[in-house]
Amino acid sequence: MSMGSDMYREQILDHYKNPRNYGELEDPTFSHVGENPMCGDEIKVDVTLAEDGETIEYVSFVGDGCAISQASASLLSQELPGMSLDELEGMDRDDVTEMLGIDISPMRIKCAVLAEKVAQDGAKIYRGEMDLDKTSTED
Ligand code: FES
Repeated sequence: MSMGSDMYREQILDHYKNPRNYGELEDPTFSHVGENPMCGDEIKVDVTLAEDGETIEYVSFVGDGCAISQASASLLSQELPGMSLDELEGMDRDDVTEMLGIDISPMRIKCAVLAEKVAQDGAKIYRGEMDLDKTSTED
């Protein structure tokens, strides 16, 4: 194991134990919920947009899950502010694994992408591009 990946493992544990932006926003522009049906873990993401209706201003999340899913949500909540909804929708799983900094096994990739998928579907629903009650990492 390289020093680099140790550092990322520390980062994941830190975000898991002290999640950033954990909680609910007072008046979010949109909120969305999703689950990883493999384990039943669920996350809700709240997003507030800037006045331009396109730039992400704040992101928070609540929910339960493993260290990977929680760290990923925490990291994402720091990464997204300043990005546009188009940029969010353009993200893929590589962006998430890059953010986490470790190799994610195929079994755990659903954990890693849960928060991203919830945020992306929330954005699509907000923009009227999609109609969905709850996101699933299986779809
Ligand atoms: Fe449930 Fe990872 S085991 S989200």
